[in-house]
Amino acid sequence: MIGKVVLFGVAALFVVAFAHPQYRTLKCTTPDGKLKAGKDRARCNMIIKDSETEKPGRPAAEGEGCFSETHNGEERVYCALICPEAHTVFNAHIEQGHRACFNFFSYQLEKRENDWYIWRSGKCLNSTVTLDVGCKFDKPFNELVANDNEIFARLRARARKALA
Ligand SMILES: *[C@@H]1O[C@H](CO)[C@@H](O)[C@H](O)[C@H]1NC(C)=O
Repeated sequence: MIGKVVLFGVAALFVVAFAHPQYRTLKCTTPDGKLKAGKDRARCNMIIKDSETEKPGRPAAEGEGCFSETHNGEERVYCALICPEAHTVFNAHIEQGHRACFNFFSYQLEKRENDWYIWRSGKCLNSTVTLDVGCKFDKPFNELVANDNEIFARLRARARKALA
């Protein structure tokens, strides 16, 4: 009995210590609204959420935190997730049967320095898609980034750095 209580206590501590999640949604829309590549580039914005179910979340301005790079002659558009020092970052959800965005081919999570990014390339850049990402931290997120103003300031700073 005592053993079980102790075990439960340890498990609870583990959850408290390591499960400080945040959620990000990169919402991209094209004029035709299709889950496959069209003739237009998608317009995207990052949405900041403290829980997976937070609605509607706190949206950044269009394109904020995003920048382009070329890899092997192909354009990639990176968008900053502002999940500094996250110990785990994972794809939480994408529309079922998406026809242009495929993990590891036309979109992917990537860690750089202390933060994380999601990039899109090829046909994914021209499709409507909602990419939900989860980030997990060792400590409460507000000990890492004070508030929304700070999150949005970091997004703007990331775009400026990319232009420099
Ligand atoms: C994506 O959109 C751009 C800009 O409208 C267009 O030039 C390009 O051909 C499109 N790419 C695809 C794969 O449809």
